[in-house]
Amino acid sequence: MSDHDTSLRTPIVAVLGHVDHGKTSLLDKIRGSAVSDGEAGAITQHIGATAVPLETIADMAGDLVEVEDFDLPGLLFIDTPGHHSFSTLRSRGGALADIAILVVDVNDGFQPQTEEALDILQRTGTPFVVAANKADTTPGWNPVENSPIKPSYDGQSDVARQRLDENLYEIIGQLSDDGFSADLYWRVQNFQKNIGVVPCSALTGEGVPDVLAVLMGLSQRFMKAEMEIDVEGPGEGTVLEVKDEQGFGATLDVVVYDGTIKEGDQIVVGGVNDPIVTEIRALLQPQPNAEIRVENRFERVESVAAAAGVKIAAPDLDEAMAGAPVRVVRDRAVDDVIEEVKAELAEI
Ligand code: GTP
Ligand code: MG
Repeated sequence: MSDHDTSLRTPIVAVLGHVDHGKTSLLDKIRGSAVSDGEAGAITQHIGATAVPLETIADMAGDLVEVEDFDLPGLLFIDTPGHHSFSTLRSRGGALADIAILVVDVNDGFQPQTEEALDILQRTGTPFVVAANKADTTPGWNPVENSPIKPSYDGQSDVARQRLDENLYEIIGQLSDDGFSADLYWRVQNFQKNIGVVPCSALTGEGVPDVLAVLMGLSQRFMKAEMEIDVEGPGEGTVLEVKDEQGFGATLDVVVYDGTIKEGDQIVVGGVNDPIVTEIRALLQPQPNAEIRVENRFERVESVAAAAGVKIAAPDLDEAMAGAPVRVVRDRAVDDVIEEVKAELAEI
């Protein structure tokens, strides 16, 4: 990710939607992994984070995304569970998001957690694209692996295309009932005013280039709006999980959404009881395109700038809490930062 301006903050993309609609599979297609296959009961039970470099996105998107057109290092994807019992994790994922993908199974259409995800996006004012996934399951579908959707769609039999259209218009109608003006993405001019619906398949890769192209367009807008963010400032993040790691004891998987975190920094972390004040012993970064939730090869780094997923090793983290804030103290009074963390904990 080194060719690009590193003072720009990487946009955070949340992937939201109903259980089994294909969120993890879509991410697997983008990052070239098979995380979904390894999940217990085939459902996601934690929030994940994956840094996908711009080069990977451009490779995947073919002609639709050119590296030269974008001045950002890549995207940080946040995977969320769709099962109804994980609504806290969905809100947490939504709260971190700058932009989002709402994944909807084209055959299954809108379901309770699709509505829930839409509520989160509406509440947080997060721009999003709809991935109308599993288009390949349309009866009579003739797959074109990894193709942009338009040529694949245009090349289908009339019957297959009409069946898909019916499902797509059902989704567009549901979005409209919920107050969103939406259309097939190739008819949308302004993706912040109108929601683009992209037929796609996480299995065959069709339409995935288009999902990425729309996301990159939304990121570009987001970057313009958020130019002033100071990625050099004291880091701020959210704990995804507290995990024991051999040789380190309790560690934190964290999404850093603002500023920079450095080895040796004093941090304040929300705990089961009082906020924990400790000093970072090691910062461990997953490989590009790796899901922090399942990765076991980490690179030790001296600092990490937002947005990024990183594992923090430090003393006294046993009582740290998933969902809690992490704040770097740097040149502020530690008591002020403790109060900040307490205030934020009171809100969640
Ligand atoms: P949760 O995280 O538990 O909410 O599920 P998810 O949305 O991450 O769904 P996941 O990616 O685990 O996929 C669920 C099932 O649908 C798996 O068996 C996938 O192989 C299958 N699947 C996902 N996307 C597609 C697709 O585009 N086409 C087809 N045919 N199957 C798909
Ligand atoms: Mg999943």
